[in-house]
Amino acid sequence: MDLGLKGRTALVCASSQGLGRGCAEALAAAGARVIVNGRDADKVARAAAEIAAATGAEIIPVAADVGTEAGRAALLEAASEVDILINNNGGPPPADFRTLDHSKLLAGVEANMLTPIAMVQAVIDGMVERRFGRIVNITSGSVKMPLAGLDLSSGARLGLTGFLAGVARQVAHANVTINGLLPGSFDTARGTAIDKKRAVDGGIALDQARAERAAKGPAGRLGTPEEFGAACAFLCSAQAGFITGQNLLIDGGAFPGVL
Ligand SMILES: NC(=O)c1ccc[n+]([C@@H]2O[C@H](COP(=O)([O-])OP(=O)(O)OC[C@H]3O[C@@H](n4cnc5c(N)ncnc54)[C@H](OP(=O)(O)O)[C@@H]3O)[C@@H](O)[C@H]2O)c1
Repeated sequence: MDLGLKGRTALVCASSQGLGRGCAEALAAAGARVIVNGRDADKVARAAAEIAAATGAEIIPVAADVGTEAGRAALLEAASEVDILINNNGGPPPADFRTLDHSKLLAGVEANMLTPIAMVQAVIDGMVERRFGRIVNITSGSVKMPLAGLDLSSGARLGLTGFLAGVARQVAHANVTINGLLPGSFDTARGTAIDKKRAVDGGIALDQARAERAAKGPAGRLGTPEEFGAACAFLCSAQAGFITGQNLLIDGGAFPGVL
């Protein structure tokens, strides 16, 4: 399927590995020019070279911390005009909510709510003027089904979801869409970090923690970054212009409700 993305520029935040990388690969495969990002310059350069080799697309590596003003400025400068913005960032480490002091709470809200909002503010007027824009926010299944120990992650992302729900309705007239993609349990480094904590806390082997995480949902397995990226690329396609203000779970059926 031709997604109509040839010649479009996609800025994919936090994309040197994992779900962000899955999105960068799928958008590059669809013909977009892609900015790949992470804080570790070697990892970003390697990911960019691999995606370029696999897809033939123009890939621009930008080593920057998206959580800082300077990092965001570097990303926006590399892209010049942004047609597609994928908001992504690291998530707060799992923690007992009682241990989160004021500075930790602020850091979580900064990373998973204020940072993506700042990126949206920076790109949205250009998208409206050019009558094309696609914004996808990688949040979490915990927005719909909170998980103990990820309370800050759930709260900050739910704040982002609420904020952008109203914004989406203000720009839909200009063929600019804003949607959330909510990952369940995926096979990424972040997923492994959560398995490690569960293994240590529960006194079980890492393999067992991973198998238990995979077995939790009806699909009986972890999702892959490729599956996640494919869904993202479709939401960014020319054909998806009538899908906006939505929050799509990609969790193998783990969320038990129908709405
Ligand atoms: N995997 C899951 O099962 C799952 C489930 C629910 C929600 N999520 C959420 O989805 C998001 C992506 O998860 P993932 O599993 O793909 O994580 P991951 O495998 O750990 O990858 C995170 C990526 O983000 C980059 N990154 C982190 N902080 C950054 C920053 N401040 N500036 C720029 N780049 C940054 C990392 O590179 P550097 O470290 O080099 O910067 C890396 O490329 C996270 O917010 C996570 O909480 C994941």
